[in-house]
Amino acid sequence: MGKVTISTLGKMKTNGEKFVCITAYDATFARIISEAGAETILVGDSLGMVLQGHDSTIPVTIDDMAYHTECVCRGAPDSLVIADMPFMSYTSPEQTMANATALMQAGAQMVKMEGGTWLSESISMLVERGIPVCAHLGLTPQSVNQFGGFKVQGRTPKEAKSILADAVEIQDAGASLLVLECIPASLATDISSKLDIPVIGIGAGAGTDAQVLVMHDLLGLSEHTARFVENFMSGQDTIQGALKAFVDAVKAGDYPREEHTYT
Ligand code: KIV
Repeated sequence: MGKVTISTLGKMKTNGEKFVCITAYDATFARIISEAGAETILVGDSLGMVLQGHDSTIPVTIDDMAYHTECVCRGAPDSLVIADMPFMSYTSPEQTMANATALMQAGAQMVKMEGGTWLSESISMLVERGIPVCAHLGLTPQSVNQFGGFKVQGRTPKEAKSILADAVEIQDAGASLLVLECIPASLATDISSKLDIPVIGIGAGAGTDAQVLVMHDLLGLSEHTARFVENFMSGQDTIQGALKAFVDAVKAGDYPREEHTYT
């Protein structure tokens, strides 16, 4: 496949080809995810929950993210690696620039930040200086305390309108990708068709341009999983087989299905 870039993903959207993202936190899993055919790898701050055992992503630091980003990039040189900016690491322009630089110097090709309109200025600043940005809307886990739990977002017309407006604004600010998490499928489909940039869904139905899952969830290792998660280990003998089954299911349009979807 060669090195995956933003242009690869843009072309896939134009051609109606689904692409796949899986989280990884170390070199070995990054390698086998890349070998399974996933185009992108997210070094998610979900590592705070699945690696460190916290009950949210809030305790994760920029040093944690830089360390795991370096590990992942060594294992998957051909994948497009996105690294999460952790909680409170992008509150001022100076802090945002310094922390995004640390993740790019650790080897990432893009940074991800949770939020909408309020991020526009930071997105433009990073993009103008050569740092591509993936935005993240809907259920943004760093705001779990504001939401009062890990709850589906965008269910009222007012919330849906606000998520759509945020999506358009972050695209206009220069974001290259957008993650939509835990929102009704109809809203995610509408946003994906209105935006030119590729949209990656998680718990957002089948109408997005790509799907992402936390690796531990799709391997059936997590204690509690949301409705949108499928255990791809079932029927497989190996982790490699399960990762490939997820990639194939997304590309064939067999995942996510109705039972994984919020209305
Ligand atoms: O941190 C993470 O793994 C994420 C995904 C759930 C999209 O942000």
